[in-house]
Amino acid sequence: MASTSMAPILKWPGGKRALAQTIARFVPGKYGTYYEPFCGGAALFLALDPPRAVLGDTNAELIECYQTLAKDPDAVISELAMMRNDARSYFSVRASRPASPAGRAARLIYLCRLSFNGIYRVNKAGEFNVPYGRRDHRSVCEPEHLRAVALRLARADLQCGDFQTTVETVQAGDVVYFDPPYTLAHGSNGFIKYNSQLFAWSDQERLARVAADLADRGAMVLVSNADHRDVRALYPGFVCHVIHRHSVIAATTAARRLVTEVLMIAGEGISKCG
Ligand SMILES: C[S@@+](CC[C@H](N)C(=O)[O-])C[C@H]1O[C@@H](n2cnc3c(N)ncnc32)[C@H](O)[C@@H]1O
Repeated sequence: MASTSMAPILKWPGGKRALAQTIARFVPGKYGTYYEPFCGGAALFLALDPPRAVLGDTNAELIECYQTLAKDPDAVISELAMMRNDARSYFSVRASRPASPAGRAARLIYLCRLSFNGIYRVNKAGEFNVPYGRRDHRSVCEPEHLRAVALRLARADLQCGDFQTTVETVQAGDVVYFDPPYTLAHGSNGFIKYNSQLFAWSDQERLARVAADLADRGAMVLVSNADHRDVRALYPGFVCHVIHRHSVIAATTAARRLVTEVLMIAGEGISKCG
């Protein structure tokens, strides 16, 4: 039976939900294991539904949420069933520090679902700091969606750690999709200040070396990044595709302008350019 694309349960900064079908068209029908070492909301993983997958991220709260959901979705759904969608409940959940993994997973899903603009953001101390979204028509939980995502996550190896560690087991014939935090703003010379502290330019250079090495070892490698000449220069052996999307960070529709980003591809069956 053909698998179907599925929406992420978490709207993640830089998430690829809107581009998942476009990027999926570059992935061949048959491959070994699918790797997504910067998984976030895991939009491409959920669009492809690969039979074998390794997902990684340095965000421990995110990976624990996925591990808990994969293991016991009903425990997470029960926790969510006790939560209400109103401002008072939102700030109480935001201030809470649940002792159980299911409680922590439910808290993250709840906050991402009901926060302003539906986004995940933490301060320097790692505390979720987004205000209430006032979308009081939204249900706290969609149990069927959570169970369906849990089934897919249960087939994946979920790893908390740096991308370089996550790809250590990649073999020829595997597909690796890298979607790092963008350090450079699209088309400009500016560094994105907040991201460049989390993922520095030296990390972008390290990523490019790891990506080239994996391609040399026979994996197909796809890298999303900002459309910037300095980024392109990091990937001389890759084919560069320009992808158009609407900027969704801005709160107003007028500010959601069309921006471009790049998808660099190398590996089996792909003609390289230099
Ligand atoms: C642009 S987001 C990925 C979005 C994802 N593709 C989606 O569809 O939602 C980048 C992710 O990389 C993670 N990250 C940052 N530095 C990392 C590192 N050194 N190794 C692995 N993951 C990292 C962040 O926690 C974040 O979740």
